[in-house]
Amino acid sequence: MTDTPVGQDVVDLLTTDHHEVLDLLQQIKITTDTEERRDLTDSVISEIVRHAVAEEMYVYPAMKKYLPDGEGAVDHDIEEHKELERTMKQLESADAQTAEFDQLLAQLENLLRDHASDEESEQFPKLRAQVPREELIEMGQKVETAKELAPTRPHPLAPNDQLFHKLVGPGVGLVDRLRDKLTGRST
Ligand SMILES: [Fe+2]
Ligand SMILES: [Fe+2]
Repeated sequence: MTDTPVGQDVVDLLTTDHHEVLDLLQQIKITTDTEERRDLTDSVISEIVRHAVAEEMYVYPAMKKYLPDGEGAVDHDIEEHKELERTMKQLESADAQTAEFDQLLAQLENLLRDHASDEESEQFPKLRAQVPREELIEMGQKVETAKELAPTRPHPLAPNDQLFHKLVGPGVGLVDRLRDKLTGRST
């Protein structure tokens, strides 16, 4: 009998995130209701920010520690996260009825597909090969906990729910507020 832990590791969790967000993006494409498009887009933004922050906090240190080209892989991923954030900031303020909005959504989808395929074909398999299984599972637990620190998404039944915006706080845009909340910065 071995005591190899069973269950989801960090790679399972992050891979699921990628696919859930891509599914949400498909939903937005077929949704015609403007308010629903706005809400789903805010959900996508929220999911991507928490995913990116979780990777930065818990996966980057492991990549640097265990992968021979870890530093380079982290630098590359940071660039991808910045591009995602630039697009999401534009989406925050874009009008969901416009062609610009559709174009930004398409851009976000392309960036995400690149991001997901880079990680799923390159870094994730390397992490699985190099990092002890227990550590991968522990990282998964930390990622889950970190993601719970900020509210998940606007209330599905209340479009543009005020409570959501109160929870993440006033001031700067959604992307920055979520990021600050998740990384523990107060301003
Ligand atoms: Fe990433
Ligand atoms: Fe990712």
